[in-house]
Amino acid sequence: MYKSASYDEPLLNKLAQLSDEECDLFNDIPNSLKRKKKIKIPHLDETQIVRHFHKLSQMNYGIDSGMYPLGSCTMKYNPKICEEISSWSKFYGTHPYQDISLVQGNLKLMFELERMLSEITGMDFFSLQPAAGAHGEFLGMLLSRAYHENRKDFKRNEVILSDTSHGTNPASVTMAGYKLVEIPSTKEGTVDLKILQQVLSDKTACFMHTNPNTLGIFEDEILEISEMVHNAGGLLYYDGANMNAIMGKARPGDMGFDIVHLNLHKTFSTPHGGGGPGSGPVGVKMKLEKYLPIPRISKEDNEYYLDYNAKDSIGKIKGFYGNFSVLLKAYTYISLMGKEGLKETSEIAVLNSNYMKEKIIKSKLYDLPFKKLRKHEFVLSCEKLKQEKNIRAMDIAKRLMDYGLHPPTIYFPLIVKEALMIEPTESESKKDLDNYIDALINIAKENPETIKNAPTNTSIKRVDEVGATKNPILTWNMI
Ligand SMILES: Cc1ncc(COP(=O)(O)O)c(C=O)c1O
Repeated sequence: MYKSASYDEPLLNKLAQLSDEECDLFNDIPNSLKRKKKIKIPHLDETQIVRHFHKLSQMNYGIDSGMYPLGSCTMKYNPKICEEISSWSKFYGTHPYQDISLVQGNLKLMFELERMLSEITGMDFFSLQPAAGAHGEFLGMLLSRAYHENRKDFKRNEVILSDTSHGTNPASVTMAGYKLVEIPSTKEGTVDLKILQQVLSDKTACFMHTNPNTLGIFEDEILEISEMVHNAGGLLYYDGANMNAIMGKARPGDMGFDIVHLNLHKTFSTPHGGGGPGSGPVGVKMKLEKYLPIPRISKEDNEYYLDYNAKDSIGKIKGFYGNFSVLLKAYTYISLMGKEGLKETSEIAVLNSNYMKEKIIKSKLYDLPFKKLRKHEFVLSCEKLKQEKNIRAMDIAKRLMDYGLHPPTIYFPLIVKEALMIEPTESESKKDLDNYIDALINIAKENPETIKNAPTNTSIKRVDEVGATKNPILTWNMI
């Protein structure tokens, strides 16, 4: 077996020979809890281990491997310099229990990031604590409740959202104890103002929406919507996971939204997906500031400190202050891009999406159920392929893998039959966009048998996803 340079055999031997009493000097683990038998750890040399992990990494697919246009949950370019800076020991070596005099730089960074996000969204204050978009939504709902209850307006127990909402929206609403009121969209794929007016009442706590919505369509009537909700005494919550469509162009704060969350993992340079640490900061208008979670990052006489003094705060939403490394990457990214850079990012994301949409639609092989101009994403329907050849969205997705491409999101939003939801992002070159378009067009013309048997050249073929969920076989053994 190869030994690495840091393998300190004498020390390990010495530790192995310690008696139980001596071990207890090092820790307080009771003997009854200590392992009785030696653990079975596979003995492998370095080459085998490197090959094992290298092979696993080759079986993976990420944005560094190719285009990853998962609508709503897409992966985009995250500059490597952001990763590098977040791995600087001066940042990762800090500890949340360190005296605040020793982490002034970290606090300054968070303080400034809150200001940057406020500027980008048009909100007054931010909390960086939530660890994901859904977590931000949940916090937003708690803020809404605190606001209404503080005004002794206890009747408001309903949250309205549209049938294009991202799945986490109804889940967060329900988790926060609100009653869900879902409204159908118009034929154009936007909020139906007539129906909205009918469901608004003195029970309305909040209207939750994302703009552009999950069809990629911008709500032209957002100012009217916001006036209607405010007139009914409700608040407006903005799901900002789609913020990469409008940065530098429009701000939810100016549209009338009172609470906003952003997905820093996605829009602001942390790889999205894979379940890694994320960040879903929540911004609010002035009237909601006092309910934000504690501690707040504050500044006095050029000193930053953690302010726990907020009697109306909803309390804590996460241990410590949020996922600092994600905040660090967002700070780096926003500083790198600047105002103009962020604006250009959104412009290219929108251009790429409309370019793809137009070329695919021209082929007449896929339908576009809602015709309006798109922002960052669009949703196709494979219904025609299903009727004519029994080819479903799932089959197209699997076949794309054979072309070495990551499939788009499928079967969402639910109002599109056999949906393929594509968000190319600003990251891709024209060549990559064309390659993806060609693949979709080719697949639609292929023999149905070939498509039904896909994927054929991936390490795992079609799996029984329902079976795997209902009867998971989980193992930690690698040999
Ligand atoms: C529109 C929208 N809302 C909410 C979310 C939830 O974010 P998260 O997965 O971080 O909880 C997503 C996820 O990408 C999203 O696309």
